[in-house]
Amino acid sequence: MKPTNSVRKAMLKTSLKSLLAAATLVVAGQAFAEGHALPYPFKPDTGNEASVQRGARNFMNYCSGCHSMRNLRYSRVGQDLGISDDLLKANLMFTSEKVGDHILSSMPADASKSWFGQQPPDLTVEARYRGPDWVYNYLMTFYVDPSRPLGTNNLVLPGASMPHVLWELQGLQVKKAEGEHGAADGEGEHGGHEAGAPFELASKGKLTPDEYKKFVADTVNFMVYAAEPGRAHRVSVGYKVILFLLLFTVLAYFLKREYWKDVH
Ligand code: HEC
Repeated sequence: MKPTNSVRKAMLKTSLKSLLAAATLVVAGQAFAEGHALPYPFKPDTGNEASVQRGARNFMNYCSGCHSMRNLRYSRVGQDLGISDDLLKANLMFTSEKVGDHILSSMPADASKSWFGQQPPDLTVEARYRGPDWVYNYLMTFYVDPSRPLGTNNLVLPGASMPHVLWELQGLQVKKAEGEHGAADGEGEHGGHEAGAPFELASKGKLTPDEYKKFVADTVNFMVYAAEPGRAHRVSVGYKVILFLLLFTVLAYFLKREYWKDVH
């Protein structure tokens, strides 16, 4: 019958439309939540133990003066990353003496408020709170901005009160003029910038752009590890459990066949 068919079609159309609308909303919501688009793609790799170790060294040297990781103990870092107590004490522990201590910064809270306008936040779970790619981009995108009190600004956290503490390593970069960046600027990897990167170096740092990226990637890998130190263990237990369940399924199948073979 024709009427029912057309009613059906109309219903299908409306539900497709609302599905599409819902999908658009989700996508728009995500774009909105991200704020500024992140110019540098990044995928963390906490399975690379050497990288996480280097990241721990970077963090203790360049960040722990201001930032704590109060939910993490030095001893846990040592155990997970295969670093002995002596090496920990000699190379990574600047603010405390016992390996069982939590990673606290040496910065007095009240003084830091007057220096920076706020206390540097604890970074134990920062990589989970903001996402590894956000943290990576944060450390990549400090740029010269004379209108700011410290002379630098940040692309993904505009008005950040943190100084560009890695400027000696990265050098100082300035924003390219609008429309100057984009795939068509032909600079490519050779100029030390990717096509599409929003910055160019105004003065060189101690590290080349590629070395600096590696430095930041190591640091973020450590922060991702720190946000969930038990992850490696959880993943390996997960695989074992799934293997067990698969084997058990096979056993259960044969058992079932054995029980039911005389019934038919
Ligand atoms: C001189 C003190 C100081 C040092 C050293 C420092 N920071 Fe910060 N950091 C701050 C302050 C202050 C803020 C707060 C910025 C704001 O919200 O405006 C901050 C904010 C941050 C944030 C953003 C927090 C958020 O989600 O809003 C991250 C990530 C961060 N720091 C990472 C690092 C890393 C990694 C290092 C080491 C490479 C480092 N910081 C070294 C002072 C410091």
